[in-house]
Amino acid sequence: MDAIVSLAKRRGFIFQSSEIYGGLNGFFDYGPLGAELKKNIRDCWWNDMVRRRDDIVGIETSIIMHPKVWEASGHVAGFTDPLVDCKVTKQRYRADQLFFAAVIVDGTTVGHVCVLESADTAADLQAAAEYFKRKKAIQGTLAPVTPREFTDAREDEIALIPSPGTGNVGDLTPPRAFNMMFQTNVGALTDASSVAYLRPETAQGMFVDFKNVVDTGRVKLPFGIAQIGKSFRNEITPRNFIFRSREFEQMEMEYFISEDADWKKSHDEWIEWCRQWLLSIGLPESHLSLYAHPQEKLAFYSKGTVDIMFKYPFGVQELWGIAARGNYDLNQHATASGKPMEYFDEASKKKFVPHVIEPAVGVDRILLAVLCAGYAEEDVKDEKGNVEKRTVLRLSPRIAPVKVAVFPLLKNKEALVARAKELHAKLKRHHAVFYDEAGAIGRRYRRQDEIGTPWCVTIDFETIEKDGTFTLRERDSMTQKRITEADLFALLAELVY
Ligand code: GAP
Repeated sequence: MDAIVSLAKRRGFIFQSSEIYGGLNGFFDYGPLGAELKKNIRDCWWNDMVRRRDDIVGIETSIIMHPKVWEASGHVAGFTDPLVDCKVTKQRYRADQLFFAAVIVDGTTVGHVCVLESADTAADLQAAAEYFKRKKAIQGTLAPVTPREFTDAREDEIALIPSPGTGNVGDLTPPRAFNMMFQTNVGALTDASSVAYLRPETAQGMFVDFKNVVDTGRVKLPFGIAQIGKSFRNEITPRNFIFRSREFEQMEMEYFISEDADWKKSHDEWIEWCRQWLLSIGLPESHLSLYAHPQEKLAFYSKGTVDIMFKYPFGVQELWGIAARGNYDLNQHATASGKPMEYFDEASKKKFVPHVIEPAVGVDRILLAVLCAGYAEEDVKDEKGNVEKRTVLRLSPRIAPVKVAVFPLLKNKEALVARAKELHAKLKRHHAVFYDEAGAIGRRYRRQDEIGTPWCVTIDFETIEKDGTFTLRERDSMTQKRITEADLFALLAELVY
């Protein structure tokens, strides 16, 4: 992760927000390359999810909605995380990210250890138990630890669990519910009547506008409403770079189906659609897995939720949640607003409240996944056969911030520069491209490798003196071949979509 965070900063992908003032925890800015990369991810999703399908329409709803939306959706009462305070360090922890274990030596419990969730929490707890035993000079055989979540700790156990901040028992409070919605006030008055919230998800926009879309959008079941936009959550422990932040962007789609449709089939189809889409933007299959939420942990209205998990350097974590939510949300808004949310089915002449399948993903999490999967440091040979290091970002051409870099072989040869600039100008009309004439060609290739540019073209003497072809150098294989301008445009048309 350190190498990825460092590259992201060095090459202008991601900066800490308000860095000159010391930064603000859980907020990030996207620099020139990051903004391009993020826009490409968004555009690919929008094109594939909305424009290239006949059954899905896109909308854009406001970030601040009527506060009753969040009462009806259950967020005011229940959008909480279990918060644990360390009374001494004033550090705050999410109880479901704190793990503890009894230290058992020769069958007797001699104490407890507690760590923050990591890529290998069990190993961390075992190491902490060994350290505890050594420090206390306890003789005997240490049993393998059994990790438990802090949320499962009984009250009498909480008093025995040491704070990860101080290492002392008695410093942690029992978990309490912490609502993650950011509050604000609308209008000139700052009192209870003006309280509003920054949306914690984009999904409610689709439910609240359901009737408007049905009445104006000429949609027929099954159909979907999609949206991309910012969401805000006052996360207790924002962490792992942009993985869990307080301001982030979601791409959500509500796919409405008939009340007696085969929801399981639709759910399965959407899981597979999302998986295929992740592969289409270059995530490796080996890093993806599925996690089905256990029945007993689902909300009462939920029929099933499956997460597509991604193998990040800090562990396997949720990337994309696909939930079958029944018709809970539409019913809640119908009851709270007094406005019917029924759909009239022409074929069966029946009126009913549709059910929904909801694939919900964060743009920032996808962006982090493509950086993590694409990043590599390799030993390669230069033109003279010397081994050197290259850092490369293997980004799919679909999302790479720069598609082609154009170089004149030499910057002091007018004819080469003129042709390179001409090609650059032509490409620029359709694609994000980059012109570079500074330094040796090898150095210019390396600079592009590091930011994930799939192709570099070099205008050389053959281009201007012979057949007009130029060198196309491919980022991943580092192979070079001669190519015509028409072939370059054809290659881009095929792979950048
Ligand atoms: N409408 C359903 C919903 O919002 P969620 O699992 O809370 O479900 C959906 O969020 C997706 O949004 C997650 O799978 C994740 O990709 C992204 N996401 C959620 N919280 C996030 C955070 N604090 N930072 C970055 N991305 C987040």
